[in-house]
Amino acid sequence: MTEGMFDRKNHWENIYQNKQLENVSWYQPKPTTSLELITELSIAKNAKIIDIGGGDSFLVDHLLALGYEHMTVLDISEAAIERAKKRLGYQAEQVTWIVADATTFETSETYDVWHDRAAFHFLTNDEDIKRYITNVDKALCKEGRLILGTFSTSGPLKCSGIPIKQYSIESMTKTFDEMFEKQKGFNIDHKTPFDTIQNFTFCTFSKK
Ligand SMILES: C[S@@+](CC[C@H](N)C(=O)[O-])C[C@H]1O[C@@H](n2cnc3c(N)ncnc32)[C@H](O)[C@@H]1O
Repeated sequence: MTEGMFDRKNHWENIYQNKQLENVSWYQPKPTTSLELITELSIAKNAKIIDIGGGDSFLVDHLLALGYEHMTVLDISEAAIERAKKRLGYQAEQVTWIVADATTFETSETYDVWHDRAAFHFLTNDEDIKRYITNVDKALCKEGRLILGTFSTSGPLKCSGIPIKQYSIESMTKTFDEMFEKQKGFNIDHKTPFDTIQNFTFCTFSKK
């Protein structure tokens, strides 16, 4: 494990040990955009969906309520995963939980949907970005879809106190261009619990 990775994990464990669910800027009781993007794919309810950097987001709760059967939530923070499990109670058993760094995580599983809201944008160096993209390519099945949401070029420059990389629809498309074809791209505002606005770029991709 490199020192950089250790710091990253520490940062997130600290956040989840010290901040309440409703006191983080990314808090969303109903992740409407993500839910719409997933449901409009019209995938089967037994499709495999992985939420990367899912933290203790409510996406998994809503997808379970919609009848999706094969949910995986991956996060670098064990504290985040424990919080989500606790909240879901007995339903947590229906979910696969993985504590791992998205850039180094290895799996023999293949997924139909790879969803990431506000985790990828923390990767600010080219090597990590490359590793992440390689991982998406490996983990997604042939017809699989990638759904990615990051801060836009008119959004904040930091999140949870650390720098992020902003993306426009164009730069996100270009970043994934080698292996993925953009299906859809748009910008959308997220209202934080502190009544501030964060502009996001969302794109969906299929494999080339
Ligand atoms: C801003 S929060 C967003 C949480 C959730 N996706 C949402 O939309 O509510 C970023 C999340 O990504 C996780 N994270 C950050 N870097 C990561 C990495 N390299 N691998 C896996 N998870 C990571 C953090 O622990 C945190 O839960």
